[in-house]
Amino acid sequence: MTKVLIATEKPFAEKAVSLIENVFSEAGFEYGFLERYTDRNQFLEALKTPDAVIVRSDIVDKKVLNIAQNLKLIVRAGAGYDNVDVDAAAKKGVVVMNTPGQNSNAVAELAIGLAIYGLRNMFTGASGGELKGRTLGLHGYGHVARNVKRIAEGFGMNIAVFTRYSRKRAESEGLFVTDSLEELYAISDVVSIHVPARGEHLKSVSFEVLKHLKENALLINTARKEVINEDELIHFLRFRPDVKYLADIAPDKAHEFEKHFKGRYFFTPKKIGAQTAEANINAGVAAARQIVAFFKDGDTTFQVNKA
Ligand code: 3PG
Repeated sequence: MTKVLIATEKPFAEKAVSLIENVFSEAGFEYGFLERYTDRNQFLEALKTPDAVIVRSDIVDKKVLNIAQNLKLIVRAGAGYDNVDVDAAAKKGVVVMNTPGQNSNAVAELAIGLAIYGLRNMFTGASGGELKGRTLGLHGYGHVARNVKRIAEGFGMNIAVFTRYSRKRAESEGLFVTDSLEELYAISDVVSIHVPARGEHLKSVSFEVLKHLKENALLINTARKEVINEDELIHFLRFRPDVKYLADIAPDKAHEFEKHFKGRYFFTPKKIGAQTAEANINAGVAAARQIVAFFKDGDTTFQVNKA
């Protein structure tokens, strides 16, 4: 019997859990949950026997892969799979999948929420600004950015995009696509980052890019802290007191922000972008269905570590 582990240090909403259970019960799969674990050894121990695992931001590295001798499939219930060593998995013949688009509306709504919070001076009561009429710069144009665009249009924002991989799509939707990241940062009142933490995107938000930001700009990061060059952001914020940085999850040097940039930053205490019942249901159920389709039909549609 196929055995699945759902290992989520940050658990899914209750409704998502019961819907995931339904998928596996109907398929006749054995399943178990490891939620809110506090010790990494619990994760390692639980992975000794399953054929497949569903994770969120749980770290799946070489150590995990060496212990998980039965593992054939890892499904990251979410978009970003920077927490999974995909190459090490490929070497061991373990398929890695994500569930693209399933939680993107939740992240997009958070990005807009952070923009409003920043424009309203962190709800301090100081006179702020409105989204309407301002220019939103989308850094990247994947699932999340497309949802941000949809919502921002409702607010009456002007939208610009910089994208390497979705230019045709953005242009066909009538969006203004800049020729460089620098240009995007120069024309936007609010920049919202939506690129994955891999390849050329790592540390792509550098001083050279940031220095083009408009006066009083907001920088919103609901992607990953790794796409920011943290030291250069800190350096930049030191001489641009008009700019604010709001992010879903604190940077490594959060203490520097506390010390120098009071009132100009906000970090969620834990990554919360996809932490809604709807997103948990969408991503969790999609992950469960992908596991069933893989073992029953050999379906590898969402594999991200294809050779
Ligand atoms: C994603 O990459 O899908 C989001 O960052 C969600 O991450 P989470 O599952 O840890 O909330």
